[in-house]
Amino acid sequence: MCDTQHLLHSHHHGPEFILDTPHMREFIDEVKAAIAEGGRVEEAIERLKPSFTRLMDDQDWLPDEYMADAPESGMGNGIGQWALYRAQDGSLCLFSLVVPPGQSTPIHDHRAWGLIGLYRGTQDEDVYAHGDDHERVHLKSSNKIEPGEFFALIPPDDDIHQITTTSDVTSVSLHLLTNDTGCIWRHKFDQETGLPSPFRSGYVNAECDDEHDHQHDHAHSHTH
Ligand SMILES: [Fe+2]
Repeated sequence: MCDTQHLLHSHHHGPEFILDTPHMREFIDEVKAAIAEGGRVEEAIERLKPSFTRLMDDQDWLPDEYMADAPESGMGNGIGQWALYRAQDGSLCLFSLVVPPGQSTPIHDHRAWGLIGLYRGTQDEDVYAHGDDHERVHLKSSNKIEPGEFFALIPPDDDIHQITTTSDVTSVSLHLLTNDTGCIWRHKFDQETGLPSPFRSGYVNAECDDEHDHQHDHAHSHTH
């Protein structure tokens, strides 16, 4: 992992396991072991796939409260971002993203590699890419995502997208990312102009520490 990634990590004082079950601890242990082996990101992702597949296929471990929408959320449109696990050093997180029928996230980036899988419902994913000016983004591809499907995010490519729920039930996707995605300062992009603005989504059920990260991260936000 490059040094720049470490600049995105921030320590926090909240609980590590928000959903604290033996099942969750076993999954996170497997993830940490897969990452600790090192090597290239692509290799770590290959090692993570069996554990992530088991998590996606099991419909029993995630309590309903983490599949509920959230009227007052940082993402807007009733979209809930529920923290399930946050490493104390900000190097890993697992959260569920709950998007009501017909609603869309803003176009946004993540600034860390990871896996995203669809647990319930169906979604359209529109993937965006930076233009020559390295500021503005434009639509690159659109994917239809079915339950059980998952994909890797590896910045700087494929790090920017917009999710829309296409099912008549709320969609729930699981995000395993190598930062504290809800609390870092990242970007959302204007639907019309494609221009970025600073964005921190937060979590519905966990606090972000302070504003310190803003200046820290934003100073490095264009180095990727
Ligand atoms: Fe996303």
